Amino acid sequence: MPRHFLSISDISKKELESVFKRASKLKAEKKAGRMRATLKGKSIGLVFEKLSTRTRVSFEVAINDLGANSLYLNPNDLQLGRGETISDTSKILSSYLDGVILRTYEQERLEEFAMSATVPVINALTDLEHPTQIVSDLFTLKEAGINLGKMKFAYIGDGNNVVNSFIGAAAMLGFRFSIAAPRGYEPDLKALSRTMPLGNSDIEIVNDPAKAASGADVLYTDVWVSMGQEKDAKKRKEIFRPYQLNNKLLSCAKKGALVMHCLPAHRGEEITNEVADGPNSIIFEQAENKLHAGKAILEMFMKG
Ligand code: CP
Ligand code: NVA
Repeated sequence: MPRHFLSISDISKKELESVFKRASKLKAEKKAGRMRATLKGKSIGLVFEKLSTRTRVSFEVAINDLGANSLYLNPNDLQLGRGETISDTSKILSSYLDGVILRTYEQERLEEFAMSATVPVINALTDLEHPTQIVSDLFTLKEAGINLGKMKFAYIGDGNNVVNSFIGAAAMLGFRFSIAAPRGYEPDLKALSRTMPLGNSDIEIVNDPAKAASGADVLYTDVWVSMGQEKDAKKRKEIFRPYQLNNKLLSCAKKGALVMHCLPAHRGEEITNEVADGPNSIIFEQAENKLHAGKAILEMFMKG
């Protein structure tokens, strides 16, 4: 059975730490122009049923830097787009490829693909989770000198895929996690606890953004309308307005608190330009690190 990376709970704390170490080494090697073909001879396919800039390009470059061959497979160019089943597609792609990176809608669709796959499958975002993003973001925080186990991490906005994966990470690493979301848009801890071990977690969910931000070492936000939610855009933009990450909210956090966003940002909605481009922001470091952390993830899951 291949080992898949479908959820943040598919990686252990110890493995996470080794991914951070490896990502740091791979980053230094890339900067020095010294790259080693650790995945030489492998072919890895990317199937993206939703748009992507960072995840797709960073994984494609990562695959090439590691000496493997990357194939971007637009689902509309595959028979999948004409109704071939996910399970047949998975079996067939497994017979050509050494791994698949999949971005899709329901987590169940990803799981169905993985169940039929005979090669490792990596979750490149579903409606439920975005585990590779969270690994990369935690690496960015570590690189910025944050003690992950001791930080207060605040998330302001929609209880979406990004938050869900951070919830799993908080339980694993033991950091204080405060989430502020409007009523009805909070993450569903009860549902998550069925698949993620949340036993050790210090997670609070509130509706007041200032309360979540208070004394935080890190403030994180994400779009108010995730991919697939476009029909609710108008309503969401009204409901989420008090949850904007602006200078006033930033002033509730610790002095020098770091500001993060997985991007793409909808500037003027969930984050203001002053904050996104201000001295506390590490959003572009986050984006770059998807390449380096992505390589470490590929090595961990695709090497065997
Ligand atoms: N952060 C992130 O996943 O960005 P993309 O949608 O551009 O891949
Ligand atoms: N929550 C966002 C993340 C994009 C990287 C979405 O799912 O669209």
